[in-house]
Amino acid sequence: MGCVTLSNGVRMPQVGFGTYRAGADGKRVVLDAIDVGYRLIDTAWNYGTEPDVGRAIAECGVPREELFVTTKVSRNHLGYRNCKRLFAESLERLGLDYVDLYLIHWPRPSYGRPDWDDWQRLDRETWRAMEELYHEGKVRAIGVSNFFPEHLDSLMLTAEVAPMVNQLELHPGYMQEDVVAYCRDMGMAIEAYSPNARGRLPNDPVLLSVADAHGTSVTHVCLSYLLQKQIVILPKSAHRNRMEENLDPTDVVLTNDEVARIDAMPLAGYSGEHPNRQTVPAMSSR
Ligand SMILES: NC(=O)c1ccc[n+]([C@@H]2O[C@H](COP(=O)([O-])OP(=O)(O)OC[C@H]3O[C@@H](n4cnc5c(N)ncnc54)[C@H](OP(=O)(O)O)[C@@H]3O)[C@@H](O)[C@H]2O)c1
Repeated sequence: MGCVTLSNGVRMPQVGFGTYRAGADGKRVVLDAIDVGYRLIDTAWNYGTEPDVGRAIAECGVPREELFVTTKVSRNHLGYRNCKRLFAESLERLGLDYVDLYLIHWPRPSYGRPDWDDWQRLDRETWRAMEELYHEGKVRAIGVSNFFPEHLDSLMLTAEVAPMVNQLELHPGYMQEDVVAYCRDMGMAIEAYSPNARGRLPNDPVLLSVADAHGTSVTHVCLSYLLQKQIVILPKSAHRNRMEENLDPTDVVLTNDEVARIDAMPLAGYSGEHPNRQTVPAMSSR
């Protein structure tokens, strides 16, 4: 698998391993992922998987500099001091002395919190802390997640370093083309979370017909589609055989017509999570 080059020259693998809900045996899952070949590991302060990621990194035998570790500051701990404190906690949980990519997980606190309306100040203060971590060499790149153009515009009023990455929910049926185009114009790399729509699209007729035409799975089609659009993918699986399947989907090359049919799919597989609205109850803790 190849790499993309971020705006500051840092190279990031095109395929990463997601660790949200990695399960009770998270260390084994991450060790398997590294063993099958993943080099980008995606975690977050509030996934609870940083300790497992850290233990797996310590035991895997792969040199630290060959791994690319992403973690995120939680939406409910935004602000300068909170960010510095959470970053120190993340480093300790991971057992690392730097991370490769540090992201603001969501641009706003959870819906209904007292600081819900104060997001612009909170984002800017968080970003100032992240810029300091970047200049100190504690993070090799900084970015955002779930940011829409209005959040980016607000951040850029005071930012000295532009975000290098936006990590977004992206999969067939929810491609957020306007947000992706806006970020690309700003020089940002795009990462797709839930690239397999968390398994919500196994019976989608368009994806099934494309999968049948290639003798492959719907998951494989979803991942190939995103890679063909130069989007970094972060599939998660607790199963080694699926980790292997997801690591290199480039053996399936979709035709222009197939890409166009997937582009034209109606909204499908969307989690319902949105930075500016109350999210669906099942997701409200995120
Ligand atoms: N920034 C954010 O706000 C945010 C939000 C959500 C996720 N993320 C990141 O993105 C990562 C991936 O997203 P996700 O975990 O939401 O969803 P996902 O990767 O789209 O889907 C994961 C689901 O797909 C199943 N699966 C994986 N490979 C498969 C295959 N080859 N065939 C059939 N089923 C397969 C998994 O089952 P098994 O595990 O049982 O194999 C799991 O149920 C997360 O782990 C996290 O690191 C970030």
